[in-house]
Amino acid sequence: MMSGRGEPKVEMRTEKLLIRNARQIVAVCSNGERVLCGEAMKNPVILNQDGGNNGVSLVIGSDGLIKGIGSTAALSKGIRFSKIIDATGKCVVPGLIDGHTHPVWAGDRVHEFSLKLAGASYMEVHKAGGGINFTVEHTRQATENELYATFKQRLEGMLRCGTTLVECKSGYGLDAETEIKMLKVIQKAKRELAIDVSSTYCGAHAVPMGHTSGAATIDVIQNQLPKIVKLIKDGQLEVDNIDVFCEQGVFNKEQTRRILTAGRQAGLALNFHGDELHPMEAAELGGELKAEAVSHLEEISDAGIKAMAESGSIAVILPTTAYILRLKHPPVRKMIEEGVAVALGSDFNPNAFCMSMPLVMHLACVNLRMSMQEALVAATINAAASLRKSSTHGSIEVGKVGDVLILDAPRWEHLIYQMGNHEKLIEYVIKQGDVVHQRDSNKR
Ligand code: NIG
Ligand code: FE
Repeated sequence: MMSGRGEPKVEMRTEKLLIRNARQIVAVCSNGERVLCGEAMKNPVILNQDGGNNGVSLVIGSDGLIKGIGSTAALSKGIRFSKIIDATGKCVVPGLIDGHTHPVWAGDRVHEFSLKLAGASYMEVHKAGGGINFTVEHTRQATENELYATFKQRLEGMLRCGTTLVECKSGYGLDAETEIKMLKVIQKAKRELAIDVSSTYCGAHAVPMGHTSGAATIDVIQNQLPKIVKLIKDGQLEVDNIDVFCEQGVFNKEQTRRILTAGRQAGLALNFHGDELHPMEAAELGGELKAEAVSHLEEISDAGIKAMAESGSIAVILPTTAYILRLKHPPVRKMIEEGVAVALGSDFNPNAFCMSMPLVMHLACVNLRMSMQEALVAATINAAASLRKSSTHGSIEVGKVGDVLILDAPRWEHLIYQMGNHEKLIEYVIKQGDVVHQRDSNKR
């Protein structure tokens, strides 16, 4: 097309966001990898400003997807932007991914925290009717609206800490009615909130008081799950994963196998709690069933490590739990060396009230001896893979969702190094190219 004076008219395209001139963009991957294992965990892709101090830029399109990464001049030619953020001297990292949370519940357990500090074990509290049972009682009594109100606040808190995709479990109902109520609350958040959610049915989180694990297994398989599957088929619920607490005194290996197999038949991904307090051969079971993910794994065996490395099941490590309950730490170094893909989660729940993935990464580095690079990979691409979402989330690559954080720091490692200071450090949380959180300027 020609303009009035005979020059070719350049059609200007409008894209949503240009983040210009960053000191570092931590892309994590550059070849569409599903996960990073072993040595590859040590080397996430990082783009640095060049010797002439020209920074790196990023374009997020009007569809919320990443369009380009590189020099500002090359990226902005012929494009108009709805918003431009100058990131001079700052760093851009992918939105963090929290692979394991229990955020829908009523009634806190601050009173139990003091009991545990005084020496009571998690299982002692649980068997005395506290722990999960206490939360189940309160959650059964709460309305859907009450549960949603607190859940929403928690998810918004996570977003401010930099989490842009989070796995959320039911599991404080242990009966069909309350489990469905919880899944509906999670569903509402999926539709209404800026944060992305992967939802998990965890009806086998504990054995309801007064029941046996055998009866609870049958109830999950023959009563709860079919009702949930019907709601999924009717388009009233979206559920992504199924979870079981495979633990001594909760669900044994065989019961876990039966529940997970029923879940697989229903089309759910397998993402379960295993080998936390006792060795249960849960990792071996995860390998056998080709589970997408097994969480905790403080008590994983050598055979379990081998099985998970072979099946490609992802180990979702939860450093807050071992820290709060003073458990032995999972053998993360050995897992990484043997090729298990390691991811991280906050395990946010009434026992471990932690919304912050930067703090989780810090604990993973200090207590579990991960490097900062490994912790970042675990909290981005590998956590995305544990939720079957690494083709769209978990790295800054063209075509993926534009979920990024801008850090007010000259190197990305400040995110882990500055323990508990993420409120000041994370200047922007950007979800699909929209600013969903901006640091209060008074907090600098
Ligand atoms: O991952 N271990 C089982 N489930 C949770 C704790 C849930 C609770 O105590 O309410 C966990 O740590
Ligand atoms: Fe958990």
